[in-house]
Amino acid sequence: MNDHSIEAINLSKKYGTFTALDNLNLKIEGSKCVGFLGPNGAGKTTTLKIFTDLIFRTEGKALINGIDVHTEKKKALAATSALIETPEIYPSLTPNEALMMVAEQRGVPAEIRKKKIEEALNEVRMEEWADKRVGKFSKGMKQRIDVASTLLNDPEIVLLDEPTTGLDPRGMAEVRDIVKNLKKQKRLIFMSSHLLPEVTDVCDEVAMIDHGKLLAYDTIHNLTTRISGGGAVVEIGFVGMVGESGIIKAVESVKGITSVEKMDDKNLRIRFTGGPEAQARILTDLAMLNLGMSSFRASSSALEDVYLNLIKETL
Ligand SMILES: Nc1ncnc2c1ncn2[C@@H]1O[C@H](COP(=O)(O)OP(=O)(O)OP(=O)(O)O)[C@@H](O)[C@H]1O
Ligand SMILES: [Mg+2]
Repeated sequence: MNDHSIEAINLSKKYGTFTALDNLNLKIEGSKCVGFLGPNGAGKTTTLKIFTDLIFRTEGKALINGIDVHTEKKKALAATSALIETPEIYPSLTPNEALMMVAEQRGVPAEIRKKKIEEALNEVRMEEWADKRVGKFSKGMKQRIDVASTLLNDPEIVLLDEPTTGLDPRGMAEVRDIVKNLKKQKRLIFMSSHLLPEVTDVCDEVAMIDHGKLLAYDTIHNLTTRISGGGAVVEIGFVGMVGESGIIKAVESVKGITSVEKMDDKNLRIRFTGGPEAQARILTDLAMLNLGMSSFRASSSALEDVYLNLIKETL
């Protein structure tokens, strides 16, 4: 069963007199991807480090699958992997060699190491590079090897601290795809990020923190719906100019759409009520209108609106 869980109970962390985490309560369960958002210094890395016992909480508890990560570290972390401030792989090693070292360190039984490495490299689609030197790899490829290293112990729970930061757009896309793929394997992924479009694309839910306090934890759909006055928000792109061709009027006429806003010459932002079924019907209705619609996507700026609103309240 998918009973994976990560739970912070009254979790606090002080660095000297500075409070980095302030009575954080958060329970995430199931197989899904949860984005962890918050401004610089909000306490994201601190939280992830506590959950992997890299640092020790000051108060409260951090539980993985109900087990305290500090008092029963081995048991709690047996099914957990994390990518937090990973050091660079030594350039003269190959992925096979580097991952063999990690597998040894992580206590993967000797007789299955090779198989686990092969599976992990397959999962990040780097199998063809298994015996090439890492020194020649792009940053995105190195990051994929780092992600592979987290998979060697068949984790149910994967914690990632800004996995795409510092990568070029192609590297970001590669790693984003890998994370999406991890999600399909019935895992719980908890991922910090500053990239809201990425989180909208990859994650199902988001937890937002600032000044070490939880601001919100909900599905992206619920959060963006709440801020938009009860409607979900979608951005639609068109081949032609939206202002000159009656497109706005036509879109306004579709049943269920409550507002239409021009974002720029080729994009509209619509709000509508109803859940995913309403969204599916609206997409069909719009396609039937034959307006030259070229894209229909969950609004990443909607999550940005939620984020900015919540963060503003805590200033
Ligand atoms: N070892 C430390 N000693 C003292 N203060 C620290 C230490 N580590 C983190 N802090 C402080 O704790 C706060 C939270 O830091 P943390 O790294 O968890 O933030 P973050 O949300 O990960 O930020 P970013 O988005 O910049 O990565 C920050 O104000 C930071 O300066
Ligand atoms: Mg951080």
